[in-house]
Amino acid sequence: MTRVLVFAGSARRDSLNKKLARAAAQSAREAGAEASFVDLDDYPIPLYHGDLEAASGMPENARKLRDLFIAHDALLIASPENNASMTALLKNTIDWLSRDLGDGKGDASGLAPWRGKVAGLMAASPGGFGGVRALPHLRQVLSTLGVTVLGAQVAVPRAHEAFAADGSLADERVARSVRALAESVTQAAGRLKDPD
Ligand SMILES: Cc1cc2nc3c(=O)[nH]c(=O)nc-3n(C[C@H](O)[C@H](O)[C@H](O)COP(=O)(O)O)c2cc1C
Repeated sequence: MTRVLVFAGSARRDSLNKKLARAAAQSAREAGAEASFVDLDDYPIPLYHGDLEAASGMPENARKLRDLFIAHDALLIASPENNASMTALLKNTIDWLSRDLGDGKGDASGLAPWRGKVAGLMAASPGGFGGVRALPHLRQVLSTLGVTVLGAQVAVPRAHEAFAADGSLADERVARSVRALAESVTQAAGRLKDPD
């Protein structure tokens, strides 16, 4: 079964992007994937600092996240937009998880959480553009790390009005595009894993 890791680039308790990620995880399950939602707030990691890495290697929580990424075939990411780009939290997480394990061997183990994975990108914002300006940046970063980022993406504008009380997407058109993205990610990762 295709394993999809789903997360948001926000730690905020009432994050709109966490809601979007949870909805996408449910859609991935309906598409036949095993989908796990992970809350980055449960894995606090210091800001990347070369001296810290040199002194103590990859932080424990980054290692845990790294193991989670490696155990999955695909990613569904809901990214907030901060000043027209991804959040510092999301970039910091990617940066730590792109590092070798700190044994000094330079064996490109930093690519292990990324290479060969498929990703679907989403964004949610209270603004009118739905956070869409963050996604090309995220797409570029992930592509550089060897992730196949699907062309289709979902941006949810006025996201503070987009969710029903039970967390489901209130607008059927948006819900349909999230379902389509989750299905595409599940199918593409399945094909990469088992081409026959
Ligand atoms: C520093 C900062 C910059 C922001 N820049 C943008 C922006 O460029 N575009 C946008 O649509 N929203 C912007 N916002 C609003 C966020 O998209 C909004 O707070 C969103 O709800 C955050 O995501 P979350 O709900 O998942 O935590 C910004 C918020 C902050 C704190």
